[in-house]
Amino acid sequence: MSEYILGIETSCDETAAAIVKDGKEIVSNVVASQIESHKRFGGVVPEVASRHHVEHITLVLEETFAQAGLTMKEMAAVTVTEGPGLVGALLVGVNTAKALAFAHGKPLIGVHHIAGHIYANRLVKEFDFPVLALVVSGGHTELILMKEHGNFEIIGETRDDAAGEAYDKIARTLKLPYPGGPKIDQLSAEGTESIDFPRAWLEEGSFDFSFSGLKSSVINTLHNAKQRGENLKEKDIAASFQASVVDVLVEKTYRAAKKYGVKQVIVAGGVAANRGLRVAMNEKFEEEELELMFPPLKLCTDNAAMVAAAGSVAYHQGHRADWDLNANPSLSLERYATRGK
Ligand code: KG4
Ligand code: ZN
Repeated sequence: MSEYILGIETSCDETAAAIVKDGKEIVSNVVASQIESHKRFGGVVPEVASRHHVEHITLVLEETFAQAGLTMKEMAAVTVTEGPGLVGALLVGVNTAKALAFAHGKPLIGVHHIAGHIYANRLVKEFDFPVLALVVSGGHTELILMKEHGNFEIIGETRDDAAGEAYDKIARTLKLPYPGGPKIDQLSAEGTESIDFPRAWLEEGSFDFSFSGLKSSVINTLHNAKQRGENLKEKDIAASFQASVVDVLVEKTYRAAKKYGVKQVIVAGGVAANRGLRVAMNEKFEEEELELMFPPLKLCTDNAAMVAAAGSVAYHQGHRADWDLNANPSLSLERYATRGK
């Protein structure tokens, strides 16, 4: 008999619900984006996000069940992003999940948002361990080694800005609309890498990242050009900035993949939608035996199918949240992975 898992995601600016069958197949996947509401502020406003989630969660859930032709009765469990994210936003999802699970007598399972991004790939293809995941989003830049399901070891992470955050900040400086990533990606394709922006390799052998130096360098270059009355082309700045980000992401992922002898490399999170990154990754790994995976664009950015996919694994591993499950805005991935052990 098929097993259906409900997923709920409200950690940032998407109100999302989904039903996943047997941990791997999307039955329905509904995402209500708030991007339009945050655009005029140039970024996500936490208060606005929470209010939107409250307004949309019921409709999103109704649509999710309607599209699937299923009811709560058929669900094996309710899974929800418990963190990290914006506390007020997370609370809407967590409390909705608790109410549904309690009212229908179903198990409740908390999911780490990054585990969700990684598990978006299992909706495409089964994992073959060891797996290396490069998670690049608005809030995260991490290299994670997985030796088995539900096991996450962070081998590298950003020391300052996340990759997506750097994209959004540079876009803002260029007065491009929020979110900046897709727009810079698009401009990059038209521009040339005429400016040699720095690449932060950090200490020998380190898999950590740093994007704040790059961000300052772009801002200084723009400022100096303005003072000299020079007119730098937006598309060339975009292409040069993107080249710097992509170079470091690709090279560090490649070195980590070699060091740990992984069978699969997964790229996940909003920045995984980046065309420049996809092309460069494919070129770099072309000659390698291992398999390179990117989720389809729709599963790169926040959604609840990924939460249900990760939640399904936690469900089978016996993890159950108590009724006092709370939103945890700074939930650590490693603590999440070792919970109950
Ligand atoms: O995973 P996500 O939806 O939310 C977080 O968990 O943060 O990622 C959103 C981030 C934003 O910073 C956005 O600018 C970036 O992903 N992004 C991109 C692209 N599409 C989205 N960055 C670069 N290139 C893209 N094509
Ligand atoms: Zn995300």
